[in-house]
Amino acid sequence: MSKVDLRVNIAGVELKNPVMTASGTFGSGIEYSEYVDLNRLGAVVTKGVANIPWKGNASPRVAETYGGMLNSVGLQNPGIEEFIKKDIPFLRQYDTKIIVNIAGRTVEDYCSVVERLASEDIDLLELNISCPNVKEGGVCFGTVPSMVEHVTKEVKKFAKQPLIVKLTPNVTDIVEIAKAAEAGGADGISLINTLLGMVIDIHKRKPVLANVVGGLSGPAIKPVAVRMVHQVAKATKLPIIGMGGIMTGEDAIEFIQAGATGVAVGTANFINPRATLDVLEGIENYLNQYGEEKIGDVRGII
Ligand code: FUM
Repeated sequence: MSKVDLRVNIAGVELKNPVMTASGTFGSGIEYSEYVDLNRLGAVVTKGVANIPWKGNASPRVAETYGGMLNSVGLQNPGIEEFIKKDIPFLRQYDTKIIVNIAGRTVEDYCSVVERLASEDIDLLELNISCPNVKEGGVCFGTVPSMVEHVTKEVKKFAKQPLIVKLTPNVTDIVEIAKAAEAGGADGISLINTLLGMVIDIHKRKPVLANVVGGLSGPAIKPVAVRMVHQVAKATKLPIIGMGGIMTGEDAIEFIQAGATGVAVGTANFINPRATLDVLEGIENYLNQYGEEKIGDVRGII
């Protein structure tokens, strides 16, 4: 097998390969590091972190479905101070890029976290305006183009690292939302976050999730995600991190052919802790099979 060039550039930051973790499915890699050599990943994308600790939603907050799962975690996190003390030093031991996912209830919340991170040794920011499990912030910002532009513009004023904006698929026109993020000064786009769903326990005659609704992820949503990556890649110049049901290297290649520069592995981590590395090896195998020398040669070819 010959060595292929897997390097990708996202908003000026070079990653050794396109494979990263999807926020909220890997913590900051502390538990997973027993199974995955984090040095092999292009980047680790952390669980969303807010200005203060959040408890998250009541349990049950995960439910299995055909081809995926629902979650309504509610952005539980230890707050930025604890995160800076513990998670960044842990990740810095590894030769991988650090992408910090930012949660907030208000524009000011987002700005304060980003301002606090300005002097920290991290590589990229991922602005989470797409979580469907919180009453304020999250998806409330991500579904209205004028809000997407506004929050992106405000956060950019405080950002010292390039700003990726993570979009929700729970909209009619993803292109309009992506263009609003671009107009606000985003340096890249992550898509997609989860699709809003619901599961009912017919024997108990009530919703499975305490929050009633949650975000659907996993292979069931992959065609929606690939379609949205393709649409956004055609309509904007921004680099895209594609995600939504990536289980194998072939899945990742689909996203890359649709126009994604990076690929994030999420739900797969819950069934196979080394899914990220399997995806990475699968990408290499595909490129070797077709005699490609660089990952960039298959990007956006659809
Ligand atoms: O509820 C959650 O913590 C999920 C976050 C997200 O989808 O961004």
